[in-house]
Amino acid sequence: MSVHGVSGEERDDFTKSESREIRRRSTRLLLSTLQPLRSKVIVTAITILVATGASVLGPALIAIGINQALPALVEQQNWMPLGLVIGSYLIVAVVGALLVAQFQIMSARIAQAILIDLRKRVFLHTQRLSLDFHESYTSGRIISRQTSDLDSIRELLSGGLAQLVQGVLFMGFTAIALFSFDWVSGLILLCALVPLGFLTRWFAVNSQRMFRQTRVASARLIVQFVESMTGIRAVKAFRKEKRNEKLFADLVEDYRDTNAKVIGLFGTFDPSLVFIGNVTLGMVLLVGGLRVADGELLIGSLLAIVLYTRQFFGPAQEIAMFYNSYQSASAALEKISGVLEEKPGVPDPTAPIDLWSAKGHVHFDRVEFAYKADRVVLPEFTLDIPAGQTIALVGSTGAGKTTLAKLLSRFYDPTAGSVLLDGVDLRRLHPKDLRRAIVMVTQEAYLFSGSVADNIAIGKPDASLDEIMDAARAVGADDFIRGLPNGYDTDVNKRGGRVSAGQRQLISFARAFLANPSVLILDEATSSLDIPSERLVQEGLQTLLADRTAIIIAHRLSTVAIADRVLVMERGVIVEDGTPEHLISGTGRFAQLHAAWRDSLV
Ligand SMILES: Nc1ncnc2c1ncn2[C@@H]1O[C@H](COP(=O)(O)OP(=O)(O)OP(=O)(O)O)[C@@H](O)[C@H]1O
Ligand SMILES: [Mg+2]
Repeated sequence: MSVHGVSGEERDDFTKSESREIRRRSTRLLLSTLQPLRSKVIVTAITILVATGASVLGPALIAIGINQALPALVEQQNWMPLGLVIGSYLIVAVVGALLVAQFQIMSARIAQAILIDLRKRVFLHTQRLSLDFHESYTSGRIISRQTSDLDSIRELLSGGLAQLVQGVLFMGFTAIALFSFDWVSGLILLCALVPLGFLTRWFAVNSQRMFRQTRVASARLIVQFVESMTGIRAVKAFRKEKRNEKLFADLVEDYRDTNAKVIGLFGTFDPSLVFIGNVTLGMVLLVGGLRVADGELLIGSLLAIVLYTRQFFGPAQEIAMFYNSYQSASAALEKISGVLEEKPGVPDPTAPIDLWSAKGHVHFDRVEFAYKADRVVLPEFTLDIPAGQTIALVGSTGAGKTTLAKLLSRFYDPTAGSVLLDGVDLRRLHPKDLRRAIVMVTQEAYLFSGSVADNIAIGKPDASLDEIMDAARAVGADDFIRGLPNGYDTDVNKRGGRVSAGQRQLISFARAFLANPSVLILDEATSSLDIPSERLVQEGLQTLLADRTAIIIAHRLSTVAIADRVLVMERGVIVEDGTPEHLISGTGRFAQLHAAWRDSLV
């Protein structure tokens, strides 16, 4: 993967219909997360409507106070109206504040519920997706989905969105109040909306482009960082620090530059907003003042009008500020919805067939397979492996051995033809039965954090410690495990618990032994073992392979000796097939390999 080839969702040159589909996809996702929260959302919406309505009443009450209640007090010594106005003002203020507080709590709860839902969905879905997805979707991108993308959605939901809704409502209510109070001032405000509209539009268009640039820049930064760190061994081995330093510095600078542009944008937008607000306020004050002088307008009304006009522009700035978080959150949602709508390349069967105890008869029936449409790796492949047979699969690098193993484990489905276990197409087999029946042990032998015993028990979660130890003994791992600081309880990720590559392989053998599958595939699984360990494992292997179908992929020919049958594969085709003795005595590819290998031993 190239760092600069920002691909997939990170590209920004979508066609119109693609963009529309992406937006539709995000909306679908958003609606589906909101669905279970429907009633909460409705209550929250009503709360904020009432709260905003209350907060807009303030200036009107002040106007009534000055226009009617004060004269009543001064001219008729009547306290009643003023008392009523002050009382209502206080009540409205208190109720408004309480409702706003309530709104904030409720919207935060909704935000948290949506986040937890998305977080779980992203994890479960990416875990469910097939290997083809994970082999093409880089880990940096997957990490961004679960971290920075969800973070930007959290930012929007927990702050921005509530404020945005509040702000927009507040502006709307204020405008309505102003209009119903005094339509002349309302008209002035309406005129101000024209430049405000243009300014906002200008800001929206430019900031959208720039925010996208900053996001792409930051995504590149993360990808570069993750790649350098996950590949740190290669970086150090090949002294790539200098080159990475340069790459990273360029990306950081890029990121700074795009951010600087965004700041420049705000530098124009904010003052313009203030300017429009002040000019409008001046106009309202001027026109209103003239009318007060003419006796057309009461002074209290003018005060209310001025307060409304000022209020109106208050949230505009905030809304613009939150445009950023809105933008990145919606982009994040777009990417997350993209991942969530990925279909697993190997879908679970709709009507699965149960296979309680598989015998282990494997049949490749005219299988054709290609990772990419135009490069066939396996052309018309037919192979029958009777139950219980031990196969050694050899062949040069890139011949398609691992591919064969992946097809048999159903990490991929064949492009044509079918792979059958005991006569059942793998595509129709219940996933649980498939995993129980076929186990593949690879070279990487991944260990999860936890104890050695836990790691072995992955093969059979309900295994007792005795069973675990038996399994370890069977593959010759018992000795070294006992030598670890805490024996079977040693944490493999803690200092001191670190195991070597060969020891990791032994653990993964024990894991497979415990799982007791009817078909076992070992892909280069003994490659990290030293000769004595390999001998030891080979003794274990004899018992491990005794009553099951086994496919051993190995470059080391010593492993081949225990096989019943050897298959030599070249460019996706089996070129030799026979017993080890038969092939060795012949003149074919395997005989040559074997002769070369024997010579290398002496
Ligand atoms: N995920 C993938 N996407 C695309 N092509 C792939 C993928 N994995 C393998 N290939 C291609 O398929 C061919 C067979 O690869 P495979 O891994 O099966 O070889 P192999 O026989 O296991 O080799 P080795 O002995 O080196 O492990 C190779 O040409 C390889 O480039
Ligand atoms: Mg391989």
